[in-house]
Amino acid sequence: MNIRRAEPGDLAQIVQIEGLCFPDEAAFPPRMFAYLIRYAVSIVACQPEKKVLGFVMGYASGKAGAVYTLDVHPDYRRIGLGLKLIFALETQLDLLGAETIRLEAAAENPEAIALYKKAGYQERELVRNYYGRGKHALRMYKSL
Ligand SMILES: CC(C)(COP(=O)(O)OP(=O)(O)OC[C@H]1O[C@@H](n2cnc3c(N)ncnc32)[C@H](O)[C@@H]1OP(=O)(O)O)[C@@H](O)C(=O)NCCC(=O)NCCS
Repeated sequence: MNIRRAEPGDLAQIVQIEGLCFPDEAAFPPRMFAYLIRYAVSIVACQPEKKVLGFVMGYASGKAGAVYTLDVHPDYRRIGLGLKLIFALETQLDLLGAETIRLEAAAENPEAIALYKKAGYQERELVRNYYGRGKHALRMYKSL
C-alpha cells in the first residue's frame, strides 16, 4: 500500500471512486477534482500497480486547515485506509502551518462521523441545509 500525493493521471480513478461513493447529484464534478489535484493537498492510497483505492483532499490557509472530501473504494473499506488517509492529510496540513482542521460530514453519514471521531475530531455544530434543503451537516474540528 502506497500513500502519496495525487497526480493528474489519477483523475479518472478518483472520479470513478466518487461515483461509487455518492449519487450523481452529490458527487463532486470531474473538473473540481482536476482543480483540487492541482491546487489543493490531494493524497491517494494505491496499490503498487497504481490502482487507486481511496483519496483525501484538503487545504491549509494560514493556521486554518480543512478537509474537502475523503473517499474509500467500497471493496476496500474497514481495513484502516480512511484513517491512514486522514492522518496523511493532517501531516501535510501541519507542515503547511495549519493548527486546526475543520470539516463537514453529512449528519446522516454515521460511517464518516465515526471515522472522524476516531481520528480525534469533535462535533462543533449542526449546519442546517448545508448540502441542500433538509440535508444537514455536522461541522467538526481537530486541533493539531
Ligand atoms: C467513511 C469512509 C471514508 C471510511 O473509510 P474506511 O477506510 O472504511 O475507514 P477505516 O477502515 O479507516 O475505519 C476507521 C474507523 O471509522 C469507523 N467506521 C468506518 N466505517 C464504519 C462503518 N461502516 N460503520 C461504523 N463505523 C465505521 C470505525 O470506528 C473504524 O474503526 P474500526 O474499523 O476499528 O471499527 C468510507 O466508508 C467511505 O468512503 N464512505 C463513502 C464516502 C464518504 O462518506 N466520505 C466521507 C465524506 S465526509
